[in-house]
Amino acid sequence: MDKVVQDAFELACAARDRAYAPYSGFNVGAVIKFKNSDNLYCGSNVENAVNGVSVCAERSAISHGISLKGANPLEFVVVVTHEADQFVSPCGACRQVLFEFCEDADVPVYIFRKGGEHIKKTIGELLPMAYKVKIF
Ligand code: THU
Repeated sequence: MDKVVQDAFELACAARDRAYAPYSGFNVGAVIKFKNSDNLYCGSNVENAVNGVSVCAERSAISHGISLKGANPLEFVVVVTHEADQFVSPCGACRQVLFEFCEDADVPVYIFRKGGEHIKKTIGELLPMAYKVKIF
């Protein structure tokens, strides 16, 4: 695995440990990397007493990256939870939001479980026939 993906995994684990998930007890951390920057941007899931306004880790990471760097094409995404035996699969809403910032369907999404084992999927595999309006 590339060192930058390993670094992203470690940053995602730290974000996962800071998640606010008192309702589900399911902490998630995510990291995105833009193609034109060396920076890694993390996000945690942030839950709320009102179910519908909770935010997933992937969308937190996107917001974090855009707030510091602006909207740019994604190079890769990393996601991890605290479960030793579970690969956390990004929800449908997050797949759509991630795809918005992918130049093509080949952008990798590394789905980790706690110990560091991972599955590598492309955004196109996670969201086939995605709807997109070409803006960049
Ligand atoms: N969650 C994420 O943050 N990312 C995912 O990929 C799947 C689910 C969060 C949402 C909610 O706060 C908790 O996990 C349980 O569903």
